Amino acid sequence: MTSRRDVLRALGIGTGAAAFGARVRAGGTSETSARTIRLEAREVTWELAPGHTVKAMAYNGRIPGPEIRVREDERVRVELTNALAEATTIHWHGVDVPNAMDGVPGLTQEPVAPGATFVYEFEARPAGTRWYHTHFAEHRQLDLGLAAAFIVEPRAAESVTYDRDVTLVLDDWATGHGKPLPSTAGGMGGGGMMGGMMRGRGGMMGGRRSGSHAEYDTMTINGKAYPATEPLRLKKGERVRLRVISASAEHTHLLRIAGHRLHVTHTDGNPLVKAVDVDALPIAPGERYDALLVADRPGAWFLQCLAAGHADAGEKMAVLYDGHERQTPAPRERVEDLEVWDHGLGRGRPVLLAPTGATRRFDLSLIGGMMGSDVWTINGKRYPNTDPLALERGDRAIVRFANMSPEAHPMHLHGQSFRVLSVNGVRYAEPVVKDVIDVRAHMGSAVVEFTAHNPGDWFFHCHKPSHMDGGMVAVARIAGA
Ligand code: C2O
Ligand code: CU
Repeated sequence: MTSRRDVLRALGIGTGAAAFGARVRAGGTSETSARTIRLEAREVTWELAPGHTVKAMAYNGRIPGPEIRVREDERVRVELTNALAEATTIHWHGVDVPNAMDGVPGLTQEPVAPGATFVYEFEARPAGTRWYHTHFAEHRQLDLGLAAAFIVEPRAAESVTYDRDVTLVLDDWATGHGKPLPSTAGGMGGGGMMGGMMRGRGGMMGGRRSGSHAEYDTMTINGKAYPATEPLRLKKGERVRLRVISASAEHTHLLRIAGHRLHVTHTDGNPLVKAVDVDALPIAPGERYDALLVADRPGAWFLQCLAAGHADAGEKMAVLYDGHERQTPAPRERVEDLEVWDHGLGRGRPVLLAPTGATRRFDLSLIGGMMGSDVWTINGKRYPNTDPLALERGDRAIVRFANMSPEAHPMHLHGQSFRVLSVNGVRYAEPVVKDVIDVRAHMGSAVVEFTAHNPGDWFFHCHKPSHMDGGMVAVARIAGA
């Protein structure tokens, strides 16, 4: 039976709203031959909103870059041409690539020099909402726009049924225009973020600004700040799968669609046993969530970020049902007791490989940022002087993070995903699978577990580029061919 989705796929136009940007569809008829995708990184002038134009960096001239869609296990060949005046690389975030394709300059590859081309080639797995971004001079290059979605469509049928999907890439910009936004650096539960509105397990811990922070003043969805954001148009009864990706360097967002619940189905691309309904979805730098939006309340609404100041800084888009296209959504919604996503609400599917080797435990204390310092350490050491996590292929690694600093740290592991066993001392019966765990400020903790299945040297680092540059990186060194 041929569905509308299959027809669209055959036409090579993807299944999302065309308005949300050009897509690069990879994949030939044969699963063994790689289709080549060409990306060019170059400087552009980018209009965030009318009258608000910035110098930026883009893949193929657009921000976010082209969304790449591939089939699970499909062989992908990406030719990156560097048309920037400086070096760059690409990291395939959440994809279990071979180590040499991981895009970490100085560790897995030489930086791609200006004018040079580098070919990334790998099999796309696991399925899910992944993304790609620069990993060179990342604080600047990621801030300037070098990021995009990388969607791996599963081979097997999914448990989630939906009519179409729409990708939302969230980003924060330090443009020098407009007033700097209050920090959400403490992560979810930060007093500055939600105040008393939030219900849930988060402690109320405040973030603080430190010297390493850029002054972020503009927030975008798919490269545009409201009112330039493309409205999301809905037909009554439609089920839309939102793929939300945070390309933000520093801010944590709290996504809400007025009048609607979000049915969270995937964490960092990995499926839950069952969708979890929430009123709002926190999303830290590097994280992704898939959530179904069931179009059952015709009208005009706003999708927006509830973190203080973010919607006014542009992180807002109209959600317009058929027949309500000309309506302006109500600016504010009276919300008091919001139910917010928490990893403990989700039941993860056991999608990771089972360990075959030894169990090894690692305790990592995240330290730094005192008195505005730019130094960020793991167990008191700055990368490259941090101790590697020494593992053999097949080992089970258990990593415990303790955050002794005044800011949250979204810790990301390259090359493989992990299960989130506990957060702040609360153990989960059916851990969700992720590749970023946001460890809360001021004594927040988290324990994750992974099977070291992918040999090589893998960054395990804070996804706030200023913290990564400040030294908050360990390397998971997985031996064995
Ligand atoms: Cu998404 Cu090392 O990064
Ligand atoms: Cu950090």
